[in-house]
Amino acid sequence: MIIEFEAVSVERGAHTILRELNISLSESRIGIVGPNGAGKSTLARLINGLIAPSAGRVLFNGLAVAEHLNAVRQQIGFLFQNPDNQIVFPVVQEDMAFGLKHSLPDKTLRAARIQATLAQLDIADLSERAVHTLSGGQKQLVALACVLCMQPDLLVLDEPTTQLDLRFRNRLLQIIGQLPQPVIAISHDLAMLETFDRVMVIDQASIQADGPAAEVLPWYRAHYA
Ligand SMILES: Nc1ncnc2c1ncn2[C@@H]1O[C@H](COP(=O)(O)OP(=O)(O)O)[C@@H](O)[C@H]1O
Ligand SMILES: [Mg+2]
Repeated sequence: MIIEFEAVSVERGAHTILRELNISLSESRIGIVGPNGAGKSTLARLINGLIAPSAGRVLFNGLAVAEHLNAVRQQIGFLFQNPDNQIVFPVVQEDMAFGLKHSLPDKTLRAARIQATLAQLDIADLSERAVHTLSGGQKQLVALACVLCMQPDLLVLDEPTTQLDLRFRNRLLQIIGQLPQPVIAISHDLAMLETFDRVMVIDQASIQADGPAAEVLPWYRAHYA
């Protein structure tokens, strides 16, 4: 997997959210940190074309994202910062089934995949729950289940642990640790990123630090506390 940003800028009115980013992402575990409003979610959304750059371009495995939106999105599992933006159907297993309709047309196989994914996350009991009755953390887990059950080639997770209690946070970290696919995670949970191959600090529209977690996290703690 390789994601390339070529002189990518994002502007909104007079405000530059990201300025001329040139980055190449190919590590298996990549963390993105930075203050609120720094442009982390914007960067993540560029990867699967949820937003388009104002200048420059983004490539996913050599494909220009803007020209191959469907092909790129089929390969990327994207977990939104707010699970309400992700879950559209009223019942948990229906929402998961919808996402799998095309890739897994056989109903029995689809139901088995859904149950296995819910069990993997320890939320098999939520399968038939109405989504509006779930807590924020439960919704975050359901949104993650939707993403995982599609078995994408890359996972992009925008603040995946913010609403989780300690038990589910640890469960999520364990699952992420075992996933064969590459993961790009935005997080304020620095302990989560300690084992990552690479961490980038975004601030003031640019990359302020970029390197192995063991180097970048102490630098970030020292400069942004
Ligand atoms: N559609 C938009 N229009 C105007 N400003 C936006 C838009 N989307 C994001 N922003 C602004 O861009 C900045 C970066 O946002 P975001 O990427 O969500 O930051 P982060 O995820 O790091 O907290 C923020 O100041 C935010 O208010
Ligand atoms: Mg964000």
